[in-house]
Amino acid sequence: MPSNHKNKRPLLHFLDSQSIDYDTDVLLSKYSYVRIGGPADLFISPKIHELPPLMMLINQLEIPYHILGGGTNTLFDDEGFRGVVISLKNIKGLYHDIENNALEACGGEGLQRIVFYAERYGLGGVERLAGIPGSIGGAIKGNAGAFDMAISDVLQDLELVDIQGQVSYLKRQDILFSYRQSGIPKDCVITKARIMVTPQDKDIVKEKTRQSLRQKRLSQPVSQRSLGCVFKNPQGHFAGRLIDEAGCKGMSVGGIVVSHKHANFFINVGNGTSSDYKRLIDKIRERVFKTFGISLELEIEVVSLTT
Ligand code: EPU
Repeated sequence: MPSNHKNKRPLLHFLDSQSIDYDTDVLLSKYSYVRIGGPADLFISPKIHELPPLMMLINQLEIPYHILGGGTNTLFDDEGFRGVVISLKNIKGLYHDIENNALEACGGEGLQRIVFYAERYGLGGVERLAGIPGSIGGAIKGNAGAFDMAISDVLQDLELVDIQGQVSYLKRQDILFSYRQSGIPKDCVITKARIMVTPQDKDIVKEKTRQSLRQKRLSQPVSQRSLGCVFKNPQGHFAGRLIDEAGCKGMSVGGIVVSHKHANFFINVGNGTSSDYKRLIDKIRERVFKTFGISLELEIEVVSLTT
């Protein structure tokens, strides 16, 4: 492991002694939807019960870390990450809590598994979340949404583990949600969440879900390598429309291009790099600011080489 961090030795010892799933020098491009990112020193994929002591140790040893959900919104550096990536990929599970009219999902479960489960068993409430990629944990942290709905609208409660290894339970009303934001601290893992659903006619749920998917496919480049919307919509405006009207569709830096289908999506058309991506962000921001006097704020998360 090419690391200058002496504290990684006790961490490796702990991981081996507990048989926790990890790997070294893992290429992060495999874990980001835009397929960009160099190696992470250490890539750990704990199970739920392994998280509290692991988080506590990483914190004690003061090792830089990054918590990774589905990688649908994350831009890694071409040089990778000099620290530990904590992946949610082994934090999986989905249960129907019939008594509480809820679906209980583990944080690393795909948001779309919930949508498809609800569609299959005639449970209404999450149809408009159809087609949003990523993990349930990441979706809650970033308060993902579509069509005037956000995941916070259907959240009942959640369980999380913080960086001190403490487990807490929060109800929806204890969390401050706003547009594409939650008051959940950055340095914790959402291990479980309950999403409210209501039994409904199966065909109606299915049709609503299909309709959301159709609308997404019509307006967004869903099959291309992107990180979804790059910028948040500024109050009273649509970032996609501003970028489009500023004449930026098709603008590119290296292998990263502004989508012709939806201008708030940047596509990796080949060997795009994180520096191409960041230079394109700067160019678009500059152009939109010059044209409309509006500053665009990033929706995607940019992870630097060190934290
Ligand atoms: N528009 C253009 N040109 C474009 C793109 C959009 O003129 O290139 C116009 C559209 O015609 C429309 C308006 O801008 O009048 C809004 O576009 P759209 O309906 O596509 O919605 P959006 O505000 O761009 C938001 C979310 C999406 C979500 C859709 C679903 C944000 C930043 N984006 O997009 O979420 O899927 O609504 O309705 O809030 C994401 O968060 O990553 C994301 C993709």
